[in-house]
Amino acid sequence: ATTLRAAAVEKGRYFGTAVAASRLGDSTYTRILNTEFGSVTAENEMKWDATEPSRGTFNYSSGDRILAQAQANGQLVRGHALAWHSQMPGWAQSLSGSTLRSAMLNHITQVATHYRGKIHSWDVVNEAFADDGRGSRRNSILQQTGNDWIEAAFRAARAADPSARLCYNDYNTDGVNAKSTAVYNMVVDFKARGVPIDCVGFQSHLTNSAPGDYQANLQRFANLGVDVQITELDISGSGQADAYATVTKACLAVSRCTGITVWGIRDSDSWRTGANPLLFDANGNKKAAYTAVLNAL
Ligand code: XIL
Repeated sequence: ATTLRAAAVEKGRYFGTAVAASRLGDSTYTRILNTEFGSVTAENEMKWDATEPSRGTFNYSSGDRILAQAQANGQLVRGHALAWHSQMPGWAQSLSGSTLRSAMLNHITQVATHYRGKIHSWDVVNEAFADDGRGSRRNSILQQTGNDWIEAAFRAARAADPSARLCYNDYNTDGVNAKSTAVYNMVVDFKARGVPIDCVGFQSHLTNSAPGDYQANLQRFANLGVDVQITELDISGSGQADAYATVTKACLAVSRCTGITVWGIRDSDSWRTGANPLLFDANGNKKAAYTAVLNAL
């Protein structure tokens, strides 16, 4: 195959990208998007601040534009993200306790219902663990509503959209470490108690290389009976092309690794300003990293 999209499909996977609604009028952007990618994630447009700017008032206009252009081009859609401490609207940031819990669950129910049947996988909860080296939960206002907030979020999402794969998504969980092990233990617990979880997303915002145990880490989660997905891949630094190949091969080596999403198309589209961490340069030309991925698929 001569595109990432087709090469991934030949391996039974998807290859996707984050998309910004504001760039859909750029013909270079949409040409690459629709040729090279078989899945899309809204970079910001399905987040809490975008979809519920004031309490109980929902705005799906930008998210729906991304959905419509994906459907018109035969692409899967990953939903991102229903519950996250970041990019919460101001009104929600001012709540706490049971009021915030109710607002969060209502948000999940409303958004997952709006997109019901259209989303391949939802990042139900994003970045709930801390980077403290002890595997703690992040001390967010969502966490302060009670340690069971994550399972409550997953149950609400399942009720609203039974056909979506429900994912827990995080960063710095790409190798075996205290944070990824804490997520792992949560999945073990959820599976034992019947809390609905179908996949774990590994953001994989990397510098120079992937952790040496990247594939082993994916595999240990897959062995729990969940799919794994690489959800926000971008790699800066000197080892870029090799690291992209390593990540791609690791996913292909894990049968339950169902797809890879890169976090943007051109370096100029990246949230990591100046890092040039993506597969296409600012002019839309394929980089060495692109060829490394295509050859690895
Ligand atoms: C980033 C977007 O790329 C930026 O445009 C935005 O300003 C901030 O959020 N982890 C995530 C993504 O789960 O939602 C973040 O996306 C990057 C880190």
